Amino acid sequence: MILNEEQLAIKNIAGDVAKKVIAPMAAHCDETEEFPWDNAKALADMGFMGVVVPEKFGGAELDTVSYVAALEEVSKACASTGTVMAVHNSAAILPILMFGTEEQKEKYLPSLASGEVVGAFALTEPGEGSDAAQVATTAKEDGEYYVLNGTKCFITNGSAAGTFIIFASKDRSLGIKGLTAFIVEKDTPGFIVGKHEKKMGIRASSTVELAFDNCRVPKANQLGKDGEGFKIAMVTLDSARIGIAALAVGVASAAYDAAREYSKVREQFGKPICANQAIGFTLADMAIQIEAARQLTYHAAELKDAGKSFGTEAAMAKTFASDIAVQVALDAVQVMGGYGYSREYPVERLLRDAKITQIYEGTNQIQRVVISRSILK
Ligand code: CAA
Repeated sequence: MILNEEQLAIKNIAGDVAKKVIAPMAAHCDETEEFPWDNAKALADMGFMGVVVPEKFGGAELDTVSYVAALEEVSKACASTGTVMAVHNSAAILPILMFGTEEQKEKYLPSLASGEVVGAFALTEPGEGSDAAQVATTAKEDGEYYVLNGTKCFITNGSAAGTFIIFASKDRSLGIKGLTAFIVEKDTPGFIVGKHEKKMGIRASSTVELAFDNCRVPKANQLGKDGEGFKIAMVTLDSARIGIAALAVGVASAAYDAAREYSKVREQFGKPICANQAIGFTLADMAIQIEAARQLTYHAAELKDAGKSFGTEAAMAKTFASDIAVQVALDAVQVMGGYGYSREYPVERLLRDAKITQIYEGTNQIQRVVISRSILK
């Protein structure tokens, strides 16, 4: 698809902030693992922390295509910051938008959309990852509260977030039908932010363990109906996966740009290395893969904006974009040789950052489960 004038303008605005503010800090963020608060603030100033949120709740009220176009630019500059933006906009805000009551939207969306509060989504547990139905965190009724007990792990934005979407079971004997979603605020008694994961890539995006120790959540904070938690998680992830696809396209583009520019100035045997067919064809393959991944991503976003079914296409975009991001980053390292392997240059970071896109928000094996079930039904 071709972006319309407004979508292109949004992409350019995001690209501008990304180049001027976010890219210069990317290596520092990677090195220090510091949460990129300044980048989140810069995104918030441009409306990118509440991209699809209606204006009445303080958001930019843009479409999904604009969101993914902006996210690609941000992720091209810094995948950690792209991850903050993706999880905040897709995984934390969307379930409130789609399943929240009017009161919940009024209470939580304005502070999320302005970026004053960061959002997170907590489904995964130490004993449950791909098999999302096995959530062991429990929610027991106690007067006007639900009392949560359990542990979550690998929670993106976890140490920075103020508003969390939590999945817990009201009745484990009901399996999937016992799962319910809750909006939980960071300061709720019994809510504990635990261990910070030290990761291979996206090192500045915070990834933590969460514990619920008799955490008392007001009944008014239940999101959706009893037993609707699994559906809320799945519907949210369907959308969120388009964001991860865009993030992967951004990382791949950054690696490709670095390798292409290097190949034009690096001379060996008396000519730039790009004059060798081996390098030229590698760059051509990178360009083909990136454009194909971008089009799959835009297509899934366009289907969502048109109100059509998009879950399968989102899974396809996420799988393809993340697989090519890893391959393109690997190829970029190879084109740049020793310099590619050196931490002086960005492509080794991009390779580390690319890898997570094949894992989070559903591994690519799970995406293939989703796709194969859809095409075989
Ligand atoms: N939309 C709506 N409903 C859906 C759905 C969807 N996309 N997918 C499934 N459902 C419904 C089904 O219709 C079914 O409902 P009924 O019982 O009423 O028929 C019910 O959910 C159960 O569906 P399945 O039988 O397909 O469930 P399953 O146990 O076989 O699991 C799965 C399906 C696709 C493998 C799922 O478990 C899954 O997506 N796993 C991956 C989880 C994941 O992505 N985790 C990432 C966590 S977040 C993260 O990574 C990072 C972060 O910080 C954000």
